Amino acid sequence: LALPVLDADLEARLRARMVEVEERLEREIKSEAAFITGAARHLMHAGGKRFRPLLVLLAAETGDPTRDGVVTSACVVELTHLASLYHDDVMDEADLRRGAESANSRWDNHVAILTGDFLFSKSSELTASLGADAVRIQAETFTKLVEGQILETLTPGPDEDALAHYLRVVEGKTGSLIATSARYGARFAGAPLEIEEALTAYGEKVGMAFQLSDDILDVSSESDESGKTPGTDLREGVPTLPVLMARRSAAPEDARLLELLDGELTDDGLHAEALELLRRHPAMDEARRYVLDRAREAQDLLKVLPEGPVRDALDAFAVLIATRTA
Ligand code: FPP
Ligand code: MG
Ligand code: MG
Repeated sequence: LALPVLDADLEARLRARMVEVEERLEREIKSEAAFITGAARHLMHAGGKRFRPLLVLLAAETGDPTRDGVVTSACVVELTHLASLYHDDVMDEADLRRGAESANSRWDNHVAILTGDFLFSKSSELTASLGADAVRIQAETFTKLVEGQILETLTPGPDEDALAHYLRVVEGKTGSLIATSARYGARFAGAPLEIEEALTAYGEKVGMAFQLSDDILDVSSESDESGKTPGTDLREGVPTLPVLMARRSAAPEDARLLELLDGELTDDGLHAEALELLRRHPAMDEARRYVLDRAREAQDLLKVLPEGPVRDALDAFAVLIATRTA
């Protein structure tokens, strides 16, 4: 568990419930067809941080975390996330996921898309068992997630700010499901509505910080700590927070960086030069501040929670996400 829980009882409870989540997930992704079970297990067994179900369980500590809907909804968000990864790797033509071959690479696009659909159907079956409100929340969440993902494929219009467009993408494709994870935890543990709403807003901020810290790591990390190749987004021309912030600069000393960012960075020498210039650029600190501000906003939303280890853990969690190094 990547949780900064300082309270031993709380940590033990979370660990025990996380085992229940894993067991339930294992049961839920079984199909009559052994091939489908294997394809669905492929990425689930490959690893993953289980960040979303963990947030469900932690948020549930604001009420009665032993209620049935808590573990069920933790499985719903993980299955929805897992489903979206199968589809995402098709869209991104990615061949690696969680250190394993992506499904599209191990099999093909058809298998990856249909396995994603299968997992999404399983997630929907589980959601139905949580009642009509959960179905509505799930549907609204998925609308936002898909809207964000589609928006990502569109370039911003001439009058649209590239950074604002990008932040809308991130809010949709990542913020929505993480916000719902926090909501489900509070809701199915029977926490008061005020807390459910504060935690939903908290989840959205934390979700943004989670995705945007990934952007910073793409530039700043060394591969031995992140397990990824530094500058991958940069090489592929994927917009990231530091790049979008650097591009807003009109300072004469940035002319070379902007010229490099405008061109192809498939050449190793040009790529290394751009990465080095970006690492030293003030946009890096600007981006770090932006992410930390989202974490601070998330922390502020926790003020409606009673003081204690649960609030402390959620508080530390927000900063941990924003300052993570892997
Ligand atoms: C990862 O982003 C992708 C997402 C957060 C959402 C993807 C959503 C879809 C493809 C729609 C799913 C539809 C169904 C029916 C399940 P990324 O590519 O930036 O991150 P990565 O580095 O983890 O690939
Ligand atoms: Mg991807
Ligand atoms: Mg993607």
